[in-house]
Amino acid sequence: MPRYADGVNSQGYRVAVVGATGQVGTLMLELLRARRFPASEIVPFASERSVGRQVGEGLVVRGLSDESIQGFDLALFSAGASTSAEWAPRFVDAGASVIDNSSRWRMQDDVPLVVSEVNPEALRSHHGIIANPNCSTMQMVVALKPLHDAAGIERLVISTYQAVSGTGRRAVDELLEQSHALLHEREIDGPREYVHQIAFNAMPHAGSFAAGEDHTDEERKLMNETRKILGDPAIRVSATCVRVPVVTGHSEAVNVQTREALSPAEARELLSRAPGVTVIDDPDAALYPLPIDAAGKDDVFVGRIRRDPGHEHALDLWIVADNLRKGAATNALQLAELLHERNLVHAHGAPSAA
Ligand SMILES: NC(=O)c1ccc[n+]([C@@H]2O[C@H](COP(=O)([O-])OP(=O)(O)OC[C@H]3O[C@@H](n4cnc5c(N)ncnc54)[C@H](OP(=O)(O)O)[C@@H]3O)[C@@H](O)[C@H]2O)c1
Repeated sequence: MPRYADGVNSQGYRVAVVGATGQVGTLMLELLRARRFPASEIVPFASERSVGRQVGEGLVVRGLSDESIQGFDLALFSAGASTSAEWAPRFVDAGASVIDNSSRWRMQDDVPLVVSEVNPEALRSHHGIIANPNCSTMQMVVALKPLHDAAGIERLVISTYQAVSGTGRRAVDELLEQSHALLHEREIDGPREYVHQIAFNAMPHAGSFAAGEDHTDEERKLMNETRKILGDPAIRVSATCVRVPVVTGHSEAVNVQTREALSPAEARELLSRAPGVTVIDDPDAALYPLPIDAAGKDDVFVGRIRRDPGHEHALDLWIVADNLRKGAATNALQLAELLHERNLVHAHGAPSAA
């Protein structure tokens, strides 16, 4: 991890964190300090509900207004798609570069969708807004990139096992409340964040179904964002996204069909050398990635690397990462560091049209 001279100093950037009271925003505040990002000032923003609250180390939350957003170099957004739609272009108009965690800008042609280990060169083309991918896509492409470079990915068949923190803080509360009630043999309150009980359950319904759609938006994100980040629209992707009662850490079973032959041993070797990846693959010793072990860590963990007996050019992988860290906050910080190192913080043209 690059270390800068000081966490907050007079030479650094003025940084806004929008959504600073949320799970991802809280972690972004922590990482700005921990990774010593060169910031002269860090200003937290959230909804009107939170104005005046203290977050981080004595920072006071502000509300978004045309006056309060002036004078920033960088804005890190994690406040949902509608807040990003409204406020990201305004920050850009006011001179900031925006790194956005929401789905709002990801698929727009003139907005780079960037994973630091996979396609950092895409940052060069930014016009003010840079999109951070969806958490399940993010961790998967970090592991797929070296395989794609070596053998070309033809097709992916993905099943996800996604943690409730991916939905937001209220979903974590709901899982814990329901689990507590059921363990004490009490009736649970009706579901709020999900359509069914999440405790002791598995729901093939991560994200939401648009009218007439037989895939959830989460499944569509995996399909579309993977092709955009890997720069290969020909990759065929099939995805089933499942919400499971895990607090933090998304897991994914991924069947990877390649254009060229690739053995499990070759894949293991490529992955063990890949940046941001840790291979844990010793099934005899019951060693493979687990979400409880990945939580709190920045790497993407890969195991169960094996030949798909049904296809001579396909492998099966098990990929796990902390959805709040590499899936969101860590990548956002890595992108901010890359913008700084490559002198791209202020190198942008006109804001993107909505
Ligand atoms: N959780 C993940 O694994 C993950 C991964 C990748 C991307 N993301 C994306 O990151 C974003 C936040 O996720 P999260 O899990 O951190 O959610 P969260 O814990 O529910 O936090 C949401 C944040 O947004 C703020 N907010 C809501 N409405 C707002 C408004 N109108 N104006 C300003 N701020 C507003 C909230 O402020 P208040 O506290 O004042 O309500 C809070 O700070 C979402 O876009 C999500 O899709 C999340």
